[in-house]
Amino acid sequence: MDSFIINGGKPLNGVVKISGAKNSALKLMCASLLTDEKLVLHNVPNLADITSMARLLAHLGVKLGTGDDDITGNTLTMHSDEIRELSAPYELVRRMRASIIVLGPLLAKHGKARISLPGGCAIGARPVDMHLKALEEMGAKIEIAEGYVIAECEKLRGADIYFEKVSVGATENSLMAATLADGVTTLHNAAAEPEIVDLCECLSKMGAKIEGAGSSVLKITGVEKLHGAEHNVVADRIEAGSFIIAAGITGGEITLENISAKTLGAILPKLKATGIEIEEKENSLIVKGNSIHSKDIITEPHPGFPTDMQAQFMALMTLADGTSTIQETIFENRFMHVPELARMGANIKISGNTAIVKGVTKLTGAEVMATDLRASFSLVLAALAAHGQTKINRVYHIDRGYEKVEEKLQKLGADIIRVAEKA
Ligand code: EPZ
Repeated sequence: MDSFIINGGKPLNGVVKISGAKNSALKLMCASLLTDEKLVLHNVPNLADITSMARLLAHLGVKLGTGDDDITGNTLTMHSDEIRELSAPYELVRRMRASIIVLGPLLAKHGKARISLPGGCAIGARPVDMHLKALEEMGAKIEIAEGYVIAECEKLRGADIYFEKVSVGATENSLMAATLADGVTTLHNAAAEPEIVDLCECLSKMGAKIEGAGSSVLKITGVEKLHGAEHNVVADRIEAGSFIIAAGITGGEITLENISAKTLGAILPKLKATGIEIEEKENSLIVKGNSIHSKDIITEPHPGFPTDMQAQFMALMTLADGTSTIQETIFENRFMHVPELARMGANIKISGNTAIVKGVTKLTGAEVMATDLRASFSLVLAALAAHGQTKINRVYHIDRGYEKVEEKLQKLGADIIRVAEKA
């Protein structure tokens, strides 16, 4: 298992190109199952999770390739004209929960699917009950047996679906299923994340009829069939937010390319309020660190402050000029970075779903452990700002969601190396 060794205390300066969003690309890949024609995706990040999804799709019979003249390595083609398998085994699903998103497309296009239940994960129990309930409301018969979701239908039919809480995954599964259903489906209390808007845009290019993208009500009028399309994956707002904090916490100046301010929603005003200077250009941002002011956050579905930025924001607050409260409302166990940050000198107390962070004047290097994707980046941020050397173990988590992370950080002047170690 690889580790990072980081010698902190250097301001990061330079230019970083923001990659395509993992959480959009994964679902766009699933959308390829809805058509017999070819789907071409550009700006796909090269990440462990993308490889896991590619493996799953290949298992189902999808023909995957790279672009003919693709010099970036970020183009992916998928052709689902010969699906031979409608079952996703545990071995493939357990690596990545997003695998459950093949359920809606398989059911809508092939009338059958058998998908291993993803099970809990480090940040919370993460059930899929709302995915299943929505598909049942569209006419699917679903049973759970031997750890699998076994779903069947004649033809899905449009329905009025009310989600009891906002769920990105349940919205995506139902949205994709609805594109090929008979009649109109309305999703109420739907998720409105930029990645959902991206999925709606791609599905519309494929011939789907969708109204309300980016709002809490999605109206989908089912069509007979979808066709091929070409689509650019939206930029990764979480990677961008993470690099903005890298400038903020190290007192550096970074230009982020390939990202527009409007994709970042609530992230930008909150980071500006902490003192980070952010100049917005058409498709780039120039950010500059300053003294850090304490600010409170509550994580919420979009357009609120995203849970996927909570850990990185907390790293910034450990060095702020006062006390901040950080309330996590989306996942029940997303504070695993707290004891690790404390090992580096942070002053954080947890009370229920709230962390109270008292800013300290310095962090010091220590040996710490990455526990999940975003927690890992929060430790990288703390290590970049800390005095001395930090060793971060189990960085495979970070490889799931941050493309070429140490390369990008090294280019900005960070003293970071990867050390391969035996498991
Ligand atoms: C997506 O997960 C993202 N993953 C997560 O990013 C992100 O944190 C999350 O949305 C929230 O923004 C991908 O896109 C692959 P949810 P998802 O369904 O879809 C509960 C990262 O770091 N819920 O919106 O699984 C659930 O337990 C990852 O990149 C149910 O109760 O999240 C949670 O408390 C981590 N029943 C809340 O809803 C359901 O059927 C929101 O989860 C579904 C969800």
